[in-house]
Formats: sequence, structure tokens, C-alpha cells
Amino acid sequence: MNYGFIGFGNLANAVYQGLREQGDLSFAYFSRHRKEVEIPFFEDMGSLVSFSDVIWLGIKPQDLGEILSQLRTCDLSGKAIVSPVAGKSIAFIESYLGGNKTIVRIMPNLAIAYKKSVTSFATNRPGNETASDIYSRLTKLGKAVELPESGFDLFTSVFGSGPAFILAFIQIFKDKMREFNLPGELADELLLMLAQGTVSYFSENQEKYSIEQLISNITSKGGTTQAGLNYFGEHRLGALFEGVLEAAKNRSIEMRG
Ligand SMILES: NC(=O)c1ccc[n+]([C@@H]2O[C@H](COP(=O)([O-])OP(=O)(O)OC[C@H]3O[C@@H](n4cnc5c(N)ncnc54)[C@H](OP(=O)(O)O)[C@@H]3O)[C@@H](O)[C@H]2O)c1
Repeated sequence: MNYGFIGFGNLANAVYQGLREQGDLSFAYFSRHRKEVEIPFFEDMGSLVSFSDVIWLGIKPQDLGEILSQLRTCDLSGKAIVSPVAGKSIAFIESYLGGNKTIVRIMPNLAIAYKKSVTSFATNRPGNETASDIYSRLTKLGKAVELPESGFDLFTSVFGSGPAFILAFIQIFKDKMREFNLPGELADELLLMLAQGTVSYFSENQEKYSIEQLISNITSKGGTTQAGLNYFGEHRLGALFEGVLEAAKNRSIEMRG
């Protein structure tokens, strides 16, 4: 099966990295500029479309309308479209391409490159062979869940933007560590081990214990963790952080089409 990317930026490249070892797929891309990548580049959209069985939309939300206007002039018979474009609905894509195309809407994150994405999936053709094949491939690139499109805005905030929010949190730790004056990349290495250790602790115990219990295991009464968590609660940092997730969700709603 041939997968063709329209736009080959961060997300398309991550999807390609995740899928490249699946031996029955061939890849190519079309974008404004040629990239330093190993897969073939097509200089015009029509040639990329002719090559593709499945067309992946790797462009930004604000460019989607223009790309779909061009795409509808191509022969799309028998081809499926996959869109990871934030905020843009299947109905929006159908409004350009018509209702008779197989369209899959997904929301992955960049960890799809390492087969560790959490990816939501919706389609206008449930049970369609190509759509089911795409879903099954996504399940091999981390966790995939079928989700009504009404849930995509919150899902985009939590799982699409999530890695950036978790890293922004780790950056706060890093800023605080400036006091140690550590050489070179050592601060990043130590924080990476902290994150990996936390993930291991979570993954080894999550079937048996709730997150609250796991936090409680680190917290002695009257101790240092307790002092930090008290500050967390008194300053309502949880509610503040929920505001971050709400802001991202609301932006996804604003971008809807
Ligand atoms: N980044 C993420 O973590 C993430 C996660 C989930 C979903 N998404 C979604 O994935 C989509 C892509 O995001 P991204 O971060 O990969 O963006 P990006 O890195 O900016 O890549 C956008 C690509 O679109 C190409 N492009 C723009 N206008 C074009 C045109 N008129 N014709 C052909 N190609 C065009 C660009 O080509 P040139 O480089 O040649 O200009 C570039 O390759 C977005 O809709 C986003 O909502 C992203």
C-alpha cells in the first residue's frame, strides 16, 4: 500500500518514522520545499495523489482549506484521506471533497515516531477495509482509541499537546536546578532519569494502585513531599493546570470547521 504525505513537517515525519518498518508500505511526500529525507519527493500534488492509496494531510489547520481546494481537482477515486489536523472535522473535509470519500480523522502526538503515541480515531466509513487497516496500524504505534469527533477537542489538548505540557513542567524543574551549576547536558540527563523512573514506577504499579496511592507512597506525614503537596493544594495548582488543558481545548474548538 502507498502512503503519500501532503506536507512533511514534524507530525508527518513522526508518522513516517513510526510506520517505516511495516514492510508492506511505501511512502512519498509533496510539500512546498524538498526535505532531507529518504523517501521520494513529488513536485506537484497531482503526482503524489496518483502514487497514493492513502493520502495523509500533514499541513497546518490554516492551510487545510487551500490544500483541499487543490485536492478536489485530483482524481481521488478509491483513495482514503487521513487527517491529523487539529480542530478540523470530517464534515469540513467532506465539504470540499464530497461525502463519498473514505476519511479518517486522527489525533496522535509526536511520540508516534517511537510507537508510543496515544491516538484517537474517527471515520465516516466504519467497517471500511482501508479505514480498519489504518486503525490496526495505529494500534501498533502506541494506544489507539475510537472516539466520537465531539471528544477530539479535549483529546487534542490532553494527548496531542500533552507532551509539550509535561515538558513545560520538566522545564520548571530544570530552571530550579540552575542553582546546582551542573556542566553541559547533565541537568537534562538527570531530569530524563527522573521522568523515566517516574514512568517505570507508574507502569509497574498502575494495575494495582491508583495515582493517589502512588503519590501517597512517596509522601511521609510532615515530610518534604507533604510540604510541597500542601503548597500545591493551597495555591490550587491543580485547578490552574486544568486551565492549561481548557485553553488548549478551547483553541481546538475555535479552529473547528
Ligand atoms: N506537531 C504535533 O505535535 C502535532 C500533533 C498532532 C497533530 N498535529 C497536526 O499535524 C499537522 C501538521 O503539524 P506539524 O507540526 O507537522 O506542522 P509543520 O511542521 O509546520 O509542517 C507543515 C508542513 O506543511 C507543508 N505545507 C504548508 N503549506 C503547504 C502547501 N500550500 N503545499 C504543500 N505543503 C505545504 C509545509 O511545507 P514546507 O516545510 O515545505 O513549507 C510543512 O512540511 C497540523 O495540522 C497539526 O494540527 C501536529
